[in-house]
Amino acid sequence: MTSTTVATEPLFCPEIAGFDVSELAKKYGTPTYVYDAAQIIRQLDRLRAFDVIRYAQKANSNLAILALMRRQGVVVDAVSVGEMYRAHRAGYPFTTAAGLPPPIVYTADIFDREALEWVDRHRIHPNLGSPDMIDQFGQRCPGRPVTLRINPGFGHGHSQKTNTGGPSSKHGIWHEQLEECLRLAERYRLPVVGLHMHIGSGTDFEHLAQVCEAMERMARRVGPQLTTISAGGGLPTPYRADDIEIDIDRYFELWNATRRRLEQALGHSLTLEIEPGRYPVAQAGYLIAEIRAIKTMGNNLFYLVDAGFNNLARPILYGAYHPMAIATKDFSQQSETVEVVVGGPLCESGDIFTQTDGGTVVRRRLPPARVGDYLVIGGAGAYGFVMGSNYNSKTMAAEVLLQQGADYLVRNREPVEDLCRLEMIPTNY
Ligand code: LLP
Repeated sequence: MTSTTVATEPLFCPEIAGFDVSELAKKYGTPTYVYDAAQIIRQLDRLRAFDVIRYAQKANSNLAILALMRRQGVVVDAVSVGEMYRAHRAGYPFTTAAGLPPPIVYTADIFDREALEWVDRHRIHPNLGSPDMIDQFGQRCPGRPVTLRINPGFGHGHSQKTNTGGPSSKHGIWHEQLEECLRLAERYRLPVVGLHMHIGSGTDFEHLAQVCEAMERMARRVGPQLTTISAGGGLPTPYRADDIEIDIDRYFELWNATRRRLEQALGHSLTLEIEPGRYPVAQAGYLIAEIRAIKTMGNNLFYLVDAGFNNLARPILYGAYHPMAIATKDFSQQSETVEVVVGGPLCESGDIFTQTDGGTVVRRRLPPARVGDYLVIGGAGAYGFVMGSNYNSKTMAAEVLLQQGADYLVRNREPVEDLCRLEMIPTNY
């Protein structure tokens, strides 16, 4: 145990969107993810200046969240057959008439064989991230419009692991190969109608702003066949109380100016897309867990809860910080806090929610708690449930959506029997 952090977030979280946390926990059990629909809609509304909001569903692809997005007029990005399937199950058509934004775009750096089959059969618009993808798509679907994802040669993310640009990244077509790729597309008569750049996740304004300039240069080279430019995702959201909110209006103005200059150069109008994953959902999601043991190890006090990195992997993967609070209405001890390490149930020492990048365990100030109290982990709506696993044969958490005063179970807690559903013991064993 080395350093100490001082929390500035609220220490108590008795309610989420007007719902009593303890009641939610009793009704649905723990660990449970809870999403506040109104917060998702508020975040989407901040992005309305962009012509098209394309939700990167990898952040949270529960069917109810996707259906909410659809009702909000948001289209989706899909990075796998599973995500294309989910989008369709949530009511998105695979394709629409030309001229409208494709309801689903498949974005990747490879086509696995099944994905190529789906994109072909369902006429899903592809965003191609490698010359081989152009080749494979061109051979199979000549003449169909495509988008190219370009790696502009630089990137930035909240962690090295979420930087998706520059020479160490596997994502996109290297900017110096654009001409070559345009020729390849031409060989198969694939109109390059879209250009896309995404330099990283959880980056900052300065880095995001550099993309405009790169986009302008590349788009001029693609020429008048272009109808859409995509700013990608990557918008940061605050996790700590003192994290600053990105100035979306200023960001839009930069992109809009880029778009207008390109429209002048190309001689026709261009659609401007944004592709956020984290931004609409991160702050809308909470993971509710129960404190099941409190123990001391040397100088350290541990709160051990029934959720672990099988439920929320961001701390162990990136040293990500998530706000935490105790779900009690008893504010009598509000000024009193203790320094604690918060861990989960897994049989692995890295199963700690309070750690920094590289795995250094740190303490957090939380109110004194008792076994049986509930812990609420905030900022968990993006890359929370979707990065969950069955490690230690733990079952996946339940998911609940709160919308207009009602609570909806949107995913059952995984039954233990399902863990072995696809397994078999050879009969002659
Ligand atoms: N578009 C593309 C092509 C992407 O690769 C991503 C994220 C997004 C959009 C959405 O990025 P966002 O707006 O959410 O930053 N698991 C990590 C994040 C990995 C993001 C991967 N790609 C985390 O928990 O922070």
